[in-house]
Amino acid sequence: MSFMSHFPQKRMRRLRRDIFSRSLVRENHLRADDLIYPVFVLDGKKRKEKVASMPGVTRLSIDLLLPHAEKCLRLGIPAIAIFPVIDASLKNLTADEALNPDGLVPQVVSQLKKNFPELGVITDIALDPYTSHGQDGLIDASGYVMNDETVRVLEQQAVVHARAGADIVAPSDMMDGRIAAIRAALDSNQFIHTRILAYSAKYASSFYGPFRDAVGSAANLLAGNKYTYQMDPANSDEALWEAGLDLQEGADMIMIKPGLPYLDIVRRIKEKFGAPTFVYQVSGEYAMLKAAAMNGWLDEEACVIESLLSCKRAGADAILTYFAMDVASWLRKNL
Ligand code: PBG
Repeated sequence: MSFMSHFPQKRMRRLRRDIFSRSLVRENHLRADDLIYPVFVLDGKKRKEKVASMPGVTRLSIDLLLPHAEKCLRLGIPAIAIFPVIDASLKNLTADEALNPDGLVPQVVSQLKKNFPELGVITDIALDPYTSHGQDGLIDASGYVMNDETVRVLEQQAVVHARAGADIVAPSDMMDGRIAAIRAALDSNQFIHTRILAYSAKYASSFYGPFRDAVGSAANLLAGNKYTYQMDPANSDEALWEAGLDLQEGADMIMIKPGLPYLDIVRRIKEKFGAPTFVYQVSGEYAMLKAAAMNGWLDEEACVIESLLSCKRAGADAILTYFAMDVASWLRKNL
């Protein structure tokens, strides 16, 4: 049978046959040091609140957060990202609390750096936790988020965080020109080592819903959307344009957000610039995976690891994920 003798021409399954050869040809790996652990922090002491739309995620006061930070280090997770839950009484039109040097974020940062100096601390630069209307910036009479006025506040917010000890400031606001302004403000205050992780391609995504519940900005969000500053999910070239500008303005790292639905953007940005490229697996992605897992419809561990490995395959250097601690434990168990 001459047909059988050269069919198939090439046996791709040979390398997949055994564990050893699958290991040798594996192109991408997920490791604990690819992960960033996001946390929601509360003021006060001994406070712990569940986030209804994110089962397994809690808001914690600083004292309860410290053991988590220690566990992060033990598991080999290099950095933690802080998202504050600001008391409604402290929110106003001008986001004054964002610049309070004794506010929640500066306190958390200095406690973390004091106790765990080797753990990288990332803070979010944006005004939405502090504004009574839930927008990321200052608004005019019509409700439009004003760009330049907002940037003036953001650069001061970055300096407040750097002064408290933040290693990385991460502007997630999508105002124009904020990276250059923040870099200049940091430098002129001698914070030349403070790194900037720019949310360059942050889409106006509906996958942020559970996060807005977690930080309590959902109910406040006046216009109900952020379409005048976050990117249109239909666009791709525009993300390259944004990333190029942010790198030119001094960004050290680029963030793409959300993750899984936007991996084409990750690939394009990584290929074009070759800069450190991070992905944010957002709250809605967490909620989807968790809900299906809790219903017994998906294998949680397998699907979460697959989703993160997909981010790496697309070109991500690091991934911010609410699953970080679970993943680091699973990876250890599977060693
Ligand atoms: C706001 C901010 C948001 C997230 C992180 N920072 C929400 C938003 O832009 O409305 C979302 C993160 C998530 O959904 O996990 N500056």
